[in-house]
Amino acid sequence: MTLVDHTPSQLAEFPLVDEDPEHHRFRVHRDTMTSERVLKGELERIFQRCWLYVGHESEVRNPGDYVRRPIGNRPVFMVRGVKSGMVHVFHNTCTHRGAVVCRQKSGNTKVFQCFYHAWTFDSEGQLKGVPGREAYGEKLDFDALALKPVARVESYRGFVFACFDPGVQSLVDYLAGAREYLDLIVDSADGDMEIIKGTNEYCIDANWKLLAENSVDGYHALPTHDTYFKYLVALGTNLSGGVAGTSRDLGNGHVVLEYGAPWGRPIAKWEPLFGEHARDEIAALRANLVAKHGEARAARMADTNRNMLIFPNLVVNDIMAVTVRTFMPTSPGRMDVTAWEMAPHGELPQLRQRRLDSFLTFLGPAGFATPDDVEALESCQQGFNSGGVEWNDISRGMAREPHGDDEAQMRVFWRRWARQMGSAGYLEVGR
Ligand code: FES
Ligand SMILES: [Fe+2]
Repeated sequence: MTLVDHTPSQLAEFPLVDEDPEHHRFRVHRDTMTSERVLKGELERIFQRCWLYVGHESEVRNPGDYVRRPIGNRPVFMVRGVKSGMVHVFHNTCTHRGAVVCRQKSGNTKVFQCFYHAWTFDSEGQLKGVPGREAYGEKLDFDALALKPVARVESYRGFVFACFDPGVQSLVDYLAGAREYLDLIVDSADGDMEIIKGTNEYCIDANWKLLAENSVDGYHALPTHDTYFKYLVALGTNLSGGVAGTSRDLGNGHVVLEYGAPWGRPIAKWEPLFGEHARDEIAALRANLVAKHGEARAARMADTNRNMLIFPNLVVNDIMAVTVRTFMPTSPGRMDVTAWEMAPHGELPQLRQRRLDSFLTFLGPAGFATPDDVEALESCQQGFNSGGVEWNDISRGMAREPHGDDEAQMRVFWRRWARQMGSAGYLEVGR
C-alpha cells in the first residue's frame, strides 16, 4: 500500500490497527508512529478527552503549595488552596491578556502575580488585584475573571488527574481495574505515599506510544537489559527462575504485567545489592506487612512486581522501586518524559537511601534500564524512517492463552487507542 495524494473521490480508508483473530495476527501501521496527521488526531481525541495524570497530592501537601505541570501539551498548574485546603488544577493563563500566571516549577505562595501587568490571583484562583482598578468602573466582575479550572479534576488515593472534556466519565470508573493496583501500593505504606522531591526529565527521539508499549513489555527485559541481569548475578542474585508472570487487561486500555521479583524490593524483599546489614531491617518490614495485611496480600506487596500502564500516558511501576512516569509527544518522532519516585511518607532515612539507590540503579536516567530502553525506542523510530515495511507485528501470544512475556498487554493499549481515535485512526490511501 503506497500513500499518495489523491482527490477525495479517489480515497479509500484503512484502519491503522488491524486485528485478525482468525489468523492470529495483530498489526499496527507504522504511520501511527510517524504521521503528523495521526498526532493531530491523538491530541484532539486522546489527550483532550481522556483523564491525564497531573501529579500527586503529596507534592502540594501544604496550603499554598503549587507545581507547574503541563498536561496534554497545555500549560496548567496544581495548587492547594490556602482557605479551602482543596487541590485545584487551573489553566495556566491570565484572564487579562493571556500570559502564563504560574511561572516557577514549584513553590509555595498565597498570591500569583501575573508578571505582564501585575493582576493578582489567590491560591483559590480568585482575582484579587487589578492595577488601575478605578479605570474599570464599578462593574468589573472579579468572579468572572477568576482563573479557570480545568473542566474536570478528580483524585484517587492521592493521584490527581484532570480532563479537558467536561462530559468524561468519573475518574473512578475510568481507572477501572487499575484501582486495585494503586491500592496495593498505597496500602503498603499505610495509605500515605509521597512523591520524593526531584524529577527525572528527559526527551526521547521516538513516538510516545513506543514508551507505552515498552513500559509493559515483559520479554524485552532479558535481551535489552542483559547488562543489569549480569550485574545482579555477579552480586549473587538468583535469576534461575526467570521473569515469568501474567498480564491483565484492567479495562479502558489500562493493563498490568505482574511477575515474581527476581530482584530485591525496598518494601520488603532483600537482595545482595542491599548489603548484609539490611537483612534484618527488611525482614522486620516484611513481618510488619504480614501483620497488617495477612500473608497473601503481604506477599503480593513485597514479592511481586507490577508494571502498569494507565491509558494513555501514565506508567506506575512497582518494581525495584515505585516509579511514576508520564510522557507526552512534542512531535510524531519525539516525546518528553517525566518520572518521579514514590515512597512511604516519613520513611526512615536509611530505608529511603536504599530505595533511591535501587531506583537510580535501574530506572534512573543513567541507570541500567533507561538508557537501554531509550536506545531501543530510538532505534525503532529510526527503523520506521527507513520505510519499506508498513506494519509492526504485535501478534505474540494470539495462538494461545497469552503469557506475561507475550504481547497481549500491547494489544490492550492499541485496541483502546483505535477506539478512542475513531475515524482519526484510519488513513487515507489511493485505491
Ligand atoms: S496578561 Fe496578566 S496581567 Fe496582563
Ligand atoms: Fe526496559
